[in-house]
Amino acid sequence: CALGGAPTPTPEPTPPDTRPEGTFTDRWTLQEALQIPADAEKTAQTTMPLITSWPQGAQKTLPDQWVWDTWPLKTEDMQIATVRAADGTPYYVLVHLSVDDSVLPGARHDLATLRYSYSTDGRSWQPGGYLFPEGVVLGSRNWAGSALLKADGGVEVYYTATGERNEGPVQGPSSVLERQQVGDVQGALTADGQLVPQSGSGFPNEGGIGFEQRIALADGVKAEVVNGRVVFSGTWKHRVILRADGTLYQTVAQSDAGPLYGFRDPWAFRNPADGKRYVLFTGNMGGLKSQQTCQPEDLGDAAFRAGLGALNAEMPLHNGAIGLAVETAPGAWKLLNPLLTARCVNQELERPHLVMKGGQVYLFFSSHIGKFAPYGDLRDRGEEGLYGFVGDSLRGDYTPLNRGGLVLNTPLTQRYQSYSYDVLPGGLTTLFVDVPGIGNQDISVVSTLPPEQQRAVFGGTLGKTLRIDISGSSTSLVSELNYGQIIP
Ligand code: FRU
Repeated sequence: CALGGAPTPTPEPTPPDTRPEGTFTDRWTLQEALQIPADAEKTAQTTMPLITSWPQGAQKTLPDQWVWDTWPLKTEDMQIATVRAADGTPYYVLVHLSVDDSVLPGARHDLATLRYSYSTDGRSWQPGGYLFPEGVVLGSRNWAGSALLKADGGVEVYYTATGERNEGPVQGPSSVLERQQVGDVQGALTADGQLVPQSGSGFPNEGGIGFEQRIALADGVKAEVVNGRVVFSGTWKHRVILRADGTLYQTVAQSDAGPLYGFRDPWAFRNPADGKRYVLFTGNMGGLKSQQTCQPEDLGDAAFRAGLGALNAEMPLHNGAIGLAVETAPGAWKLLNPLLTARCVNQELERPHLVMKGGQVYLFFSSHIGKFAPYGDLRDRGEEGLYGFVGDSLRGDYTPLNRGGLVLNTPLTQRYQSYSYDVLPGGLTTLFVDVPGIGNQDISVVSTLPPEQQRAVFGGTLGKTLRIDISGSSTSLVSELNYGQIIP
């Protein structure tokens, strides 16, 4: 400081508050996402093997059912759980989104019901039936979540209650619920009782069916092995534990433009760093979607911003977030700031989950080609893939893994062959076979095919598990294991 007067101290920059309940939110910036390799640069490090055949009919993960998002019963500390039989034999459990395979694949999201299967080797699965065979199930259908086996033998299932219906108590077996749900999709039933999506191959939107998503928890049961079968004894108790608040997380009403919002896919765990229980989830940034704009911190550093081309007005309609909530007292949950947002980069950061390794926190999620924001060749770089980041704590200053965050991509000649990746301990990564049968065509072709063809091009079953090696800030695909394998 120069002449005279009291020196003005230079204010110390305030460090970002990276405690789990802190205010720091990392960004998946446009600058980072544009580092995803272009097609010609994608290598075997991330490119999955081509799916040329997959189990069909009775060989599927669940005979007579389509299966897609799937998760194993885990312990609170993120390990695969086992339910012990009286003779000590360990049983593994998987929970699946499922629907009768007479339903057209594109309509499955409108009817999704939780079923489970069990296994003594972690590879060959026996159908267990409905997870919630009776009682109150929230939502008109159930989307992805997670399941914990607690130390006292109690089971908790976190799931997405989607649709406004059935928020109040609905009694009766799920099979009855499924029939009611079919009835909910107005005008979409054929004479032979099959559900036909109204348009598009994904969500048959705006067909008299609601898309409000709430995070629900079901507990009150214990897992047991009875006559070589895993069963849940007791009565499931369901309640909604988290709703979008409109400030941190977008509500369905605020999703007034662009693609559908998300408030779903709860993934529960205990954070080893502080011993508290948290839920990660798929969300969007709070506020009216149509009013959002790309902010400098969404885009990248000053040099990158200086070189940016014109920003497409649809970019800020893509404002995906990975949400976080903490259990503040037994049964009481509170929303926290998002861990990561992707405004002007990507709309859907689906099924977020963690793997802890070498003192680092690895954050993984799935996203679709068409959910990247329209900027330059971003949508060509983006894939139906697994994406990941590494940080040194839960609310870390995350660094994209590999280049731009791409961990696994589908082969370029068959971009829609698989989806919904779940990285398990040891890097085993499960996925489901989506639509390998359309080869190089765009996903939108599916709904133009005759119904039998739509079923024929779809997998609706677990694919071969992949093993990835995770080290520092990179991953590499090392091997392909058995269908639905969760244990090395
Ligand atoms: C991913 C996903 C999930 C959602 C489910 C709905 O495959 O979009 O985010 O829970 O499918 O079917």
